[in-house]
Parts: sequence; structure tokens; C-alpha cells
Amino acid sequence: MPDPQSRVLDLIFGRWRSQILHAGVRLGIFDALREGPRTAAAIAAELGLDPSLAYRLLRALGSLELLHEDQARSFSLTETGELLRRDHPQTLRGVTLLEEGPEHYALWKHLPAMVRDGKQNAFIREFGRMAFDHAAQEPGYAEVFHDAMSSYCSAQTAWVLEALQGYDFSSIAHICDVGGGHGHLLSSLLARHPHLRGTVLELPQVIEDQELLWANRLGVGDRCTYLAGDMFAAVPPADAYMMKMILHDWNDEECVRILGNIARAAARGARLFVIEHLVPGPETPHFAKLFDIHMMCWGTGRERTVEEYRALLERAGWKYVRTWFPRSQMMGAVEGARA
Ligand SMILES: C[S@@+](CC[C@H](N)C(=O)[O-])C[C@H]1O[C@@H](n2cnc3c(N)ncnc32)[C@H](O)[C@@H]1O
Repeated sequence: MPDPQSRVLDLIFGRWRSQILHAGVRLGIFDALREGPRTAAAIAAELGLDPSLAYRLLRALGSLELLHEDQARSFSLTETGELLRRDHPQTLRGVTLLEEGPEHYALWKHLPAMVRDGKQNAFIREFGRMAFDHAAQEPGYAEVFHDAMSSYCSAQTAWVLEALQGYDFSSIAHICDVGGGHGHLLSSLLARHPHLRGTVLELPQVIEDQELLWANRLGVGDRCTYLAGDMFAAVPPADAYMMKMILHDWNDEECVRILGNIARAAARGARLFVIEHLVPGPETPHFAKLFDIHMMCWGTGRERTVEEYRALLERAGWKYVRTWFPRSQMMGAVEGARA
């Protein structure tokens, strides 16, 4: 365990690491090393970078153990750095471009003022509109946002499938993923359970580009429908519903409206899985407690405890059943049943 002073210094300089990583991704350095080791000069020439400054950036990426540097200024990807290649099956490139990119970076400077004023949502302070409205007006942000959601899914889908591996889906025929993005989670669940069919409910602009949708790519296109709609208006009937990283986008009143709309479409006994980073008790440090601050910056939402989700479910016509976790506890699936 480092001494307290070293720990504080490490926290202070944390952002340098993520910005160095972001610059490497943004400039295409990890993709340029896909075929194997190359010199700094060759990489700079291919990417149109200043050779001297590019070498210093590559050296810093080496210090973060994302690259390996040899004595001749030649660089190669480490196992960790491989995850930042565009074409890696578990790529985290999209997460990097969103979370350290210009829009999200700009939000953090408002944090002290928000906490002082008791008014969250730095998107309004910085851009004058909510994040999803910004995405609807700025295709560049929308593209980076939805690409990041698919990129997050490379880890999150595995946690959810692990959490639900003991779940008996035999009484469910049709499952709807509300705000399901490009459908990575739902398509992966359909691939695992061949008797299931599914519907992804999403905003129309998110699902119009067929190339980005996962159902065909994961071989379940014949059992998966993409439905354009608005979860604040209505959702389709189904035997079960899931929502991953949806309720954390919204405040309690907004959540109750979404949950109430699902309850109206669901028959008694229908199931709902609220999949989120769940906040544990004070004795446990957890990523959810940090993601909660990001949500404070990003919009009206928050991360919640299981008890807080239980209370929301009960306000909207659901009864709490239980919570399913993967071994890592990184996310949990709070199960409700239509009361
Ligand atoms: C944080 S993302 C999560 C996406 C996906 N569930 C995942 O975990 O990758 C929130 C999603 O909610 C969708 N969304 C926002 N407002 C919506 C609405 N009114 N109706 C349906 N979907 C909506 C967004 O387009 C976005 O894909």
C-alpha cells in the first residue's frame, strides 16, 4: 500500500494518464501498431505527426504499460494496449473517445459549482441542453456516444450473462430491451437462449443505420426486432423487460414514468431486470460511487443502491424479487415482477 502522500499525488495526476491514453487513441497510434512493432519515426510518418512530439507521447504510453519501447525507439502493443485497437473484439476505444473526449471532459469543471448550488446536470451549463437533445443535434457526439455504449458492452454483457447464468428463462418467450442501444446485450442473450425472441426499443435515429446493429452480426437477426419508439410514451408488450444503464440517466420522477409505462404494457407476473452499477454500503469502495459523479455531471440521473431501485419499482407497479450479481459485483440485475 503506497503511503498517503503518494496516494494523493497519484489521484491528482490521474487525469494525465487518461488524457495521454485518449490522445494515443485519437491519433490512431494503437491501430498503427496492429501489425507488429514499428519505430516512432515510421508511426509519425504514417499518421502525419510531428516525429519528436510523437516519440514523447509514445514513450509516455510506454510508461503507462500500454506500449512496449525497445532501445531503438521501436514500439509494440502490450496485452493491455491491444484493447485500444479499433478492431479488437473487446475494444475499449469507444469508451475512451467518449469519456475523455471534448464534451465529457468539459463537464467536470462544473462539479464544484453544481455541488454548491444543489443543481446537477453540467450538460445544461456547458451546452445549454440535455445530453440526448445535444446528441439529436450533433451527429458527431451521437456517433461517439453510441459507439461508446457498444464498447462498454464488451465488458458489461459478459457481467450480465454471468449474473443471469442461473436464471430460468423457460417461461419467457419474448424479452424487450428498453433503450437497448445497438442491441449488443439483447442479441447476446438471444444467442445464449435459442427459444427467446427479442425487441430492442430505441429512439429512431439510434437504430436507423443497420450496419451498427448487433443482431445480424451475432447471428440472431431472425429473432430480434428493432422498434423505434419513446419509452416515456409507451413500450411494447413482452413477457420480460431489461434496461441496462437506463434508469441511471434519469431522476426518480422520470424513472417512475418509465417504469410505469413498462408496467402498463406488462401482464401480471411479467419480469423486469434493471441492470446498473449498484452502489454498495459505506464500507465498500466501488466504481458505482464514481460513476454517480459522472451522472451528476452528465444529466439528471444518479447511481442507486438496491434499496433505492426497490423503492422505485414499488412506486411504479412492480414488486422486488431479488438482485443478481456477477462475481466481480461490477454491475447487478435488480429483478422485479409486475405486481
Ligand atoms: C446510457 S445509454 C444505454 C444504452 C444500452 N442500454 C447499453 O447499456 O448499452 C441510454 C440509451 O437510452 C436511449 N434513450 C434515451 N431516451 C430514450 C427514449 N425516450 N426512448 C427510448 N430510448 C431512449 C438512448 O438512445 C441510449 O441508447
